[in-house]
Amino acid sequence: MPAPGGGAVDTVLVVDFGAQYAQLIARRVREAHVYSEIVPHTMAVADMMARRPAAIILSGGPKSVHVPGAPSIDPAVYDAGAPVLGICYGAQLVAQQLGGEVAGGGRGEYGRTSLRVVGRSALFAELPVDQDVWMSHGDSITAAPPGFRVVASTAEAPVAALEDPARRVYGVQFHPEVAHTRRGQELLKNFLYGVAGCRPSWTMTSVIDRSVTAIRQQVGRAKVICGLSGGVDSAVAAALVHKAVDDQLTCVFVDTGLMRAGEAEQVEDTFRRQFQVDLVHVKAADRFVEALAGVTDPERKRKIIGETFIRVFEEVARDLHDARFLVQGTLYPDIIESGTKDAARIKSHHNVGGLPDDMNFELVEPLRNLFKDEVRTVGEELGLPEEIVWRQPFPGPGLAVRIVGEVTPERLEILRAADAIVTAEVKRAGLYRELWQSFAVLVAVRSVGVMGDERTYAYPVVIRAVTSEDAMTADWARLPADVLERLSSRIINEVPGVNRVALDITSKPPGTIEWE
Ligand code: XMP
Repeated sequence: MPAPGGGAVDTVLVVDFGAQYAQLIARRVREAHVYSEIVPHTMAVADMMARRPAAIILSGGPKSVHVPGAPSIDPAVYDAGAPVLGICYGAQLVAQQLGGEVAGGGRGEYGRTSLRVVGRSALFAELPVDQDVWMSHGDSITAAPPGFRVVASTAEAPVAALEDPARRVYGVQFHPEVAHTRRGQELLKNFLYGVAGCRPSWTMTSVIDRSVTAIRQQVGRAKVICGLSGGVDSAVAAALVHKAVDDQLTCVFVDTGLMRAGEAEQVEDTFRRQFQVDLVHVKAADRFVEALAGVTDPERKRKIIGETFIRVFEEVARDLHDARFLVQGTLYPDIIESGTKDAARIKSHHNVGGLPDDMNFELVEPLRNLFKDEVRTVGEELGLPEEIVWRQPFPGPGLAVRIVGEVTPERLEILRAADAIVTAEVKRAGLYRELWQSFAVLVAVRSVGVMGDERTYAYPVVIRAVTSEDAMTADWARLPADVLERLSSRIINEVPGVNRVALDITSKPPGTIEWE
């Protein structure tokens, strides 16, 4: 099928039966250098086949195939012409729909399990007869459908892998996509290369080439603007567009005064000096701080920042009135999730660059097919500095949502200085990339302390460090004691106005990552 940006690459469709399983499978397929897309199980098989997939993978899912209304797929998929691999719930569907048996209510298997390969199979080519795999299922396949043979078993799951090679339909009860299944990626490659005949052609160099062609086709000779936030997504999007259309691109960086230390300089340095991009640097800190004066309610802060941002951006855009296109750093997970999410609104998210529809720009979204790790690789290949490519996520409203209570220039200075120390020490300890986020929070109370012989009455700084896969859930990071000790002593000694350091040991849920 034509990949995003033209040119033919093999495409694997990952059919989503719920939860997060499909995304992980899609990422693993791409790590095998094969392009993958996630599609809902409700998509008509004819529409799937219209994309000319090299293979179809049926994902796991949280339900039992026996529950009324459990997600399903048109069985026409098994004879549509593309090889099919069912994983966990997907394998149970294969068994159930093609005349095998799936038993509910058994003991199931959860966690690491010993698997034995009991028949010759292209899926297990070059893999050992005995291996550990990761299981997570309540129901079990108890009989393979007619025409299928069982090729692997565990103690609790006699049918742990089944196949009908003539029909090119395969199923595995375990999860090859999770890291705990150590040889899982090799099994996926066996399916992709050995069974489906895919070529490993999805590389970030090829992505860049195709993107550049697509951007040129979309934009022609028109002018393009791109809002830079300092974060990795907008930076990579801008660098890609710049590679494609060079001086037709103008970047706009709105310095809200709510950025981390060194962020504005980094953007200037990279885009103006290294890439020689036409960069409009709007210094709007005073405007944002003024608009936030006296405001303590978190949601009001977010609204004010969002609105002020849009107003500033509109003013700049008016001066660049001949620009027809606006670049946005939308990623693939945003595309998958938009429309399917009906979760309660916890916080109104403001994305720098989240501009109103009536601005009359046509959007250029060069990252809309990429996962975050792919975006980082593209950024590295385009020569963006490590500080940008590996920067931890940062909320659109910036430091304002890490200052509980009123945002003032003095309190911003305190937080920025403390935050820079957290970042420096976490990097020094080699933990920066491992942590999803690590930062400082400034709270609105003050407490008594003693420094030298003097009584102090000053603010505490709270250290927040979390590990996470996707920010939907997070665990508080167990930072080593020596790192905490250095953080505490440096922040108190180097940041005037702070006399106490505390550690946030709340996971998400029930906490959120940011404090506001
Ligand atoms: P919470 O605090 O809800 O944050 O656990 C989840 C993730 O989202 C980031 N975040 C934001 N990102 N605009 C953004 O672009 C926002 O308004 C915003 N609020 C929170 C947060 O840093 C974390 O990674």
